[in-house]
Amino acid sequence: MHKPRPIHTVIEPFRIKSVEPIRMTTPEQREKKIREAGWNVFLLHARDVLIDLLTDSGTGAMSAGQWAGVMRGDESYAGSDSFYRFRDAVQDITGLKHVIPTHQGRAAERILFSTVCRPGDVVPNNTHFDTTRANIEFTGARAVDLPCAAAKDLGSRAPFKGNMDVEALDRLLADPPGRVPLCMITVTNNSGGGQPVSLANLRAVSEVCREHGVPLYIDACRFAENAYFIQQREEGYADVPLLEIAREMFALADGATMSAKKDGMANIGGFLATNDDALAAQEKDLLILTEGFPTYGGLAGRDLEAVAIGLYEALEPDYQRYRIASTTYLGTHISEHGVPIVQPPGGHAVYIDAAAMLPHVPPLEFPGIALCVELYREAGIRGVEIGSVMFGARDPDTGEPVAARNELVRLAIPRRVYTQSHIDYVVEAILNVYDRREAIGGYRITYEPPFLRHFTATFEPTTAGPVPRKAEEA
Ligand code: F0G
Repeated sequence: MHKPRPIHTVIEPFRIKSVEPIRMTTPEQREKKIREAGWNVFLLHARDVLIDLLTDSGTGAMSAGQWAGVMRGDESYAGSDSFYRFRDAVQDITGLKHVIPTHQGRAAERILFSTVCRPGDVVPNNTHFDTTRANIEFTGARAVDLPCAAAKDLGSRAPFKGNMDVEALDRLLADPPGRVPLCMITVTNNSGGGQPVSLANLRAVSEVCREHGVPLYIDACRFAENAYFIQQREEGYADVPLLEIAREMFALADGATMSAKKDGMANIGGFLATNDDALAAQEKDLLILTEGFPTYGGLAGRDLEAVAIGLYEALEPDYQRYRIASTTYLGTHISEHGVPIVQPPGGHAVYIDAAAMLPHVPPLEFPGIALCVELYREAGIRGVEIGSVMFGARDPDTGEPVAARNELVRLAIPRRVYTQSHIDYVVEAILNVYDRREAIGGYRITYEPPFLRHFTATFEPTTAGPVPRKAEEA
């Protein structure tokens, strides 16, 4: 008897109704464009990029269902139907009482932190995203990262490297008490390599916060990817639907901030949610001041619809299976050929360890920038440096530049945008760059603004051209 052979290929769980051409360029054209952009990929025109892996934020494709929602959008200034659908979706998934729409994640952060933080306060997180840190520090409070020990070892394949160090949190809350207005936890941990947080860790963090009377907020940008990792990796969750896992995560928190540009599957949007009545009232007052009336918060009714629908689509099992398979495929195929990456591959992105790949380029000659330039030169691919340009500092005493802890290049995968063959193309291009890595030189800064310099800085190569240099000579 014929035994059916199982099919292992994970396919895109959609067919394509509308396409957007992407433009092939020649190596000569790319050479000219990157030179004109001052060797900073942020300054390229998007039309000159073939595969854009700069971010997974707001760059996803909406579904036919979401576009139908867009047509249904109720644009009433106050009390629009679309708001109530949005609120109901957020409440259904998070269980949180008050839902405050915002135009994106950082608007929720600004409203939250400017309401609860005072100068001298401390706000812990597993790892703060840069806008979260900046919004905390803008209030005069201090943002502290408490990643678990496994997170520090880039090559470790621990399943939940996004976890928070619970003991360090306990110490921080106890000594001295009273300086922490809230604790954040980011799922998945973006700045920590897109790594998930386990429910066991969330539970432990929530318990410590409760003991110390400190509210816990989830930075929920990628909550659905985190739920999928829990289902796949945490004991006892293999058969639990993603929606239930998500509810269990949020039940441990007192509030949340969200950029719906990620797991809201929308191009814009976000929210702030809380169980605290008094706080919600204060936050809505601030919302009216800068974002808009509390039933639209800086969004059009059609955007609220797209998010209300997208939040559930992100929790569909076929979608998450394809999503994580695609990121994992990219990560494993390049690492199998020797490209050093943060292991295991993250949910929304693969992070190449540029310092390990280009050991002959010193950190202050920006190996991450060098690698971004080469990926563009090679194949029109755009990634982003997460290293000493983004996070480098100056020594407060000497004024000398200080390198960041890691020199990474993040390749973030937009949701439902690229197919398997696009990813295969990216794999091939990275391997070509890897094969000629010894000939890749460093960069120096020719212009930098006073803050957030990675967006607008310009560079020049420290070598006249791609001069062959052996790793061992460095
Ligand atoms: N929190 C996390 C964990 C994020 O990754 C982001 C955005 C935000 C908050 C802010 O949300 O952009 O809607 O204001 N991350 C994007 C990225 C920009 O490329 O990782 P936003």
